Amino acid sequence: MATIIEPFRIKSVEPLHFTTPSERKEILQKAKNNLFLVESDHVLIDLLTDSGTSAMSARQWAGMMVGDESYAGSPSFYRFRNTVQKITGFTHIIPTHQGRAAEKILFTLYGGKGKHFVSNTFFDTTRGNIEYSGAEAWDFLTEEGKQPHLKADFKGNLDIPALEKFIAEKGAENIPMCVMTITNNSGGGQPVSLQNMKETAALCKKHGILFFIDACRFAENAYFIKLREKGQENRSVAEIAREIFSLADGCTMSAKKDALVNIGGFLAMNDDEIAREAKNLLIITEGFPTYGGLAGRDLEAMAQGLEEVLDEEYLKYRLRSIEYMGEKLEKVGVPMIQPTGGHALYLDAKAFLPHIPPHEFPGVALANALYLEGGIRGVEIGSLMFGKYNEQGQPIAPPMELVRLAIPRRVYTQSHIDYVCEIILEVFAKRNTYKGYKIGYEAPLLRHFTAELEAL
Ligand code: F0G
Repeated sequence: MATIIEPFRIKSVEPLHFTTPSERKEILQKAKNNLFLVESDHVLIDLLTDSGTSAMSARQWAGMMVGDESYAGSPSFYRFRNTVQKITGFTHIIPTHQGRAAEKILFTLYGGKGKHFVSNTFFDTTRGNIEYSGAEAWDFLTEEGKQPHLKADFKGNLDIPALEKFIAEKGAENIPMCVMTITNNSGGGQPVSLQNMKETAALCKKHGILFFIDACRFAENAYFIKLREKGQENRSVAEIAREIFSLADGCTMSAKKDALVNIGGFLAMNDDEIAREAKNLLIITEGFPTYGGLAGRDLEAMAQGLEEVLDEEYLKYRLRSIEYMGEKLEKVGVPMIQPTGGHALYLDAKAFLPHIPPHEFPGVALANALYLEGGIRGVEIGSLMFGKYNEQGQPIAPPMELVRLAIPRRVYTQSHIDYVCEIILEVFAKRNTYKGYKIGYEAPLLRHFTAELEAL
């Protein structure tokens, strides 16, 4: 079979919102040239995030109807708990309203001043929760993972020798936990190999350091392992996932990704004592442990979604649709992170628009060009999101200037993807004509969400 088809048919549809180029020009100006400030009704293809944007299945919607809204002991909780236990093998399953709520609880318990947390790469909210507790967060990505154009199978892998050195320097007693982010969102949606997870888990165990998984995209990572890791090709994704979780002491999960729901998350672990404390914190911040910041119906949808995400026909289509996009763009030399990730394609704006220096925001220029030309919304991950100032007020650029095009799960079809590629190619053909931006207003923290930009 040469064509990998969408493994679903569509029963319920939503209209797309078309605008003309001149309307988009006006909309973007009104939104101060910041795509976060554009109403989604003015976006044709929205690739801002793959988080909370999945299309739910008929069975998930049916689950929403049978969801039981009892405050305590809802059967929907038990269905959810049993499903997560079956997939992960963890004892304690604590529902939260999304991933960062699980992180907040975890790092309130384990964080604090003088402590060091390590990872292949922490996602922003995870880092934020660690730093908020007073602790420090350190990334140990392999050199391979840091080279955007290098093609390799597992560019999300953790650099084990570097971590060993760090443990020797800081002392294992000051390192409560290692978090493996699968797939590595901040590094391009790249997977981590099973071998790397085994070795990292063994190193952590040797030093008494807890090993946790940031499991947002665990199914996509497990399918990459099946496709790319020697000896794994004949195992089911469910088996691989189960082995990943068996290496760990617990996990945090944003169900808004691989549980195919619009809201939800959980914290899971084996330690009885810590789980008790986590539930106590949950009660203060999220709700009673059998609903944790969610409705019973959300727990049903999560349970069903977690079963569906392990369907290998789905995962084959999922990873292929992003790879397909990458192949089309690569043929013409569009610069991007290679290979394409599990949930997104990351355009390399620095190489795409080399005439725009980092302090004039090439990522913003590229993201805005995609919107103006074709109504597509991506997100800049570069100087606007991560840029800092030195003591003299001069801008310090991050290592990469990227535009992430995240693909919502089960939402867009191949012709939508073809259209996105066409627009990228149009923008690429005219790349010399685009100009940068300067900041008119910026907030002291997380400025990319609300910044007002002026075209140069
Ligand atoms: N960990 C990873 C790897 C993530 O990608 C995210 C969210 C979270 C944790 C936090 O989960 O949003 O449910 O609180 N990533 C989204 C994104 C926001 O667009 O990549 P959350």
